Amino acid sequence: MIYAEILAGGSGKRFGDTNLPKQFQMLGNKPIIIHTLEQFIINPKFDKIIVCLPQEWITYTEDLISKYILNPEDIKLVIGGATRNDTIMNGCKYIEENYGLNDNDIIVTHDAVRPFVNQRIINDNINAMKKYDATDTAIDATDTIINIEKDGIISSIPDRSKIFLGQTPQSFKIKKLMDLFNSLTTEEKDILTDACKIFTLKGEKVKVVAGETFNIKITTVFDLSIANAILKVRDHD
Ligand code: CTP
Repeated sequence: MIYAEILAGGSGKRFGDTNLPKQFQMLGNKPIIIHTLEQFIINPKFDKIIVCLPQEWITYTEDLISKYILNPEDIKLVIGGATRNDTIMNGCKYIEENYGLNDNDIIVTHDAVRPFVNQRIINDNINAMKKYDATDTAIDATDTIINIEKDGIISSIPDRSKIFLGQTPQSFKIKKLMDLFNSLTTEEKDILTDACKIFTLKGEKVKVVAGETFNIKITTVFDLSIANAILKVRDHD
């Protein structure tokens, strides 16, 4: 089985609107999360789509989905966790409890606030999972990355040809992801900034597929204005 997991469990502190988390903000004529969901709904390879949310936004999202989506019964809403990785794991546990798990079951996880993901990126993730247990999506770093010491002095400048910027989707064999996550110590879990790190920490291979510069994550209010500009260009092409 191939599952999509839309990660919408965050509260969007850096966005700053405490009344409406950024995943529910309008982008053009519909909420950001609906743009994102539509890309997964139109892909016939998914058996189920799971959306993970803060508990207090479940009813609100149910209403949004019945307003904007044609077959809302195909989408399952699950309560997210305190961290992004906890949210991912809650989705995996939901799958295990409700549908059972086989070794080859795949989850394609995606940030609800990356509404410009496209079919090419999603399909590249799914295809890479035929050979690998984990797949990440990334683009070239166009700016130079610099490491800075606490006193504001550069400590090193990594070779830019080896530096990439991580995006989502990130896809995993569900059973392996859960086993690796459960084998981590509390200290290891604390330094996990990224779900793919669950694999790299344990020496497991993660395949990388090409993202797109327009596959931005809406983090701040400024990002939402960029997203509106991307939407205009996309829809006038
Ligand atoms: N996310 C999640 N569960 C969490 C934290 C984040 O599902 N406990 C999701 C967010 O909803 C978002 C994606 O992960 O779609 C990317 O995270 P980020 O942009 O950091 O979102 P927030 O945590 O909402 O933002 P902030 O860090 O500004 O509070």
